[in-house]
Amino acid sequence: MTNKKEIKNICCIGAGYVGGPTMAVIADKCPDIQIDVVDINNERISNWNNNDLNLLPIYEPGLAEIIGRCRGKNLHFSNLIEEKIGNADMIFISVNTPTKKKGIGAGKASDLRWVESCARQVAKYAKGHTIVVEKSTLPVRTAEVIKSILITSNEGGNKKNTFDVLSNPEFLSEGSAINDLFFPDRILIGGDNQNAIESLCEIYKNWVSPNKLIITNIWSSELAKLTSNAFLAQRISSINSISAICEATGADVREVSRAIGSDTRIGSKFLDSSPGFGGSCFKKDILNLVYLAEYFGLPEVAKFWNEVVEINNWHQNRISRLITKKLFNTVSNKKIVILGFAFKANTNDTRESAAIKICNDLLEEGANLFIHDPKVGINQLVKDLKGNQFKETNFFNNSVNDINEGKWMKTDNLDSIFDNSDAVVILTEWDEYSNLNWNYISNKMRSPAWVFDARSILNPEQISKVGLNYWRIGDGSR
Ligand code: NAD
Ligand code: UGA
Repeated sequence: MTNKKEIKNICCIGAGYVGGPTMAVIADKCPDIQIDVVDINNERISNWNNNDLNLLPIYEPGLAEIIGRCRGKNLHFSNLIEEKIGNADMIFISVNTPTKKKGIGAGKASDLRWVESCARQVAKYAKGHTIVVEKSTLPVRTAEVIKSILITSNEGGNKKNTFDVLSNPEFLSEGSAINDLFFPDRILIGGDNQNAIESLCEIYKNWVSPNKLIITNIWSSELAKLTSNAFLAQRISSINSISAICEATGADVREVSRAIGSDTRIGSKFLDSSPGFGGSCFKKDILNLVYLAEYFGLPEVAKFWNEVVEINNWHQNRISRLITKKLFNTVSNKKIVILGFAFKANTNDTRESAAIKICNDLLEEGANLFIHDPKVGINQLVKDLKGNQFKETNFFNNSVNDINEGKWMKTDNLDSIFDNSDAVVILTEWDEYSNLNWNYISNKMRSPAWVFDARSILNPEQISKVGLNYWRIGDGSR
């Protein structure tokens, strides 16, 4: 067994939503450790190095300030992967693990090609003893794959390198990543080498209380991460399924949430009904759990978890169908304002956002969408949306040929966006949408106009008072 190692140099492979913020916080809290974040994506790296902190590749409240404090001192972003692996005492693997698109397990299993290629790079370039930490979310027993790649690379050669592999899943949520990293509920570390575990614990102890460190075996740690996301998503699917019953029966999902959430055994968090959960991980991690259950011959378990994803898909469809129905069963050539495109507030991330499905459904029905989001850029919308982009804004002059040919445009102007619109749909709970002047807006819209509040952020009385029709998620009382 190797001795406990003092960590002076960290390399993080993957400068994404996890690697960037996580390493920024470690750098901030551990000024004596040099941290290199490396990535194969040169554009991302050059954005991390942008002098203008407003142009970092990831928007997270509080992140720019930390980058401003640490970058160039003990936090560095580069594409010097081989060199930085060679320098590191500890390497975090923080690369993407999306759902496999083809081959065995397609549509469910995680695609581990990026993790495997990291392991191979580490095997090739690491020097001396290196602690390899799985930060990415991985299927149970992936550490075994990483270990065998690292060990095999040493066999038969002259290299005398040694490795320990730990699992240290990340629980941050986008939009509150910095706060979550500063004040984590727990730090989970799975492993079988006490010295390696202690080396990692020492880093966290710089700002996290020791009683928040949970040490498990490596497989429990890997499985706890998947399960944690599955449980959170399951609560959202549960409350969203109840929102449909509320709408049918006259109940109000907010009241139901409050009533059940005040039972301390249930708890009040993650009971907000919404247009459906999005984000890069919930769906992918549950599908991964489904795949594991099937693989281990547990079809009933697989079916149970698959339903959490199925209900979410159904729910997103339910919302676009409902909008069409309320607008006299056709949205063709109607102007619909979409407020919010990110999968939640305070992030520029649109991965698996409910807005993608809902907007594409409406475009398919021929709607003209005017989309606003304070942080999502036009290039991302182009990637996510099927409909044609407007060439000019004067869409009311469209000819009959345009019927059923949905178009969209992004606009940053929260004033003119409402002109002649038939409906406003709120899909992300950005603060700035809570305080709009609905009296002013109602005068700009085309009657009879609708407001669809899929995030329940508006005051129903205020909207109804100015003569607008109002629907909000899970409210059967109106
Ligand atoms: P991301 O796609 O934003 O970032 C991953 C980065 O890794 C990319 O920039 C990519 O270019 C880089 N990369 C891939 N292969 C590489 C290689 N061989 N060498 C160097 N760089 C490489 O992904 P993310 O959102 O940061 O997620 C990373 C992992 O963390 C995933 O497993 C995810 O499930 C997990 N996770 C994500 C979140 C989240 O909020 N996004 C939270 C907890 C856990
Ligand atoms: C989630 C988990 O919360 C993190 O702990 C985990 O680390 C991360 O996934 C991951 O592994 O990637 P994230 O997806 O960033 O974090 O954001 P959440 O706050 O969990 O929201 C996910 C989705 O659920 C969003 O679309 C959000 O709007 C929706 N949501 C959340 C609801 O619809 N209702 C709620 O009550 C809460």
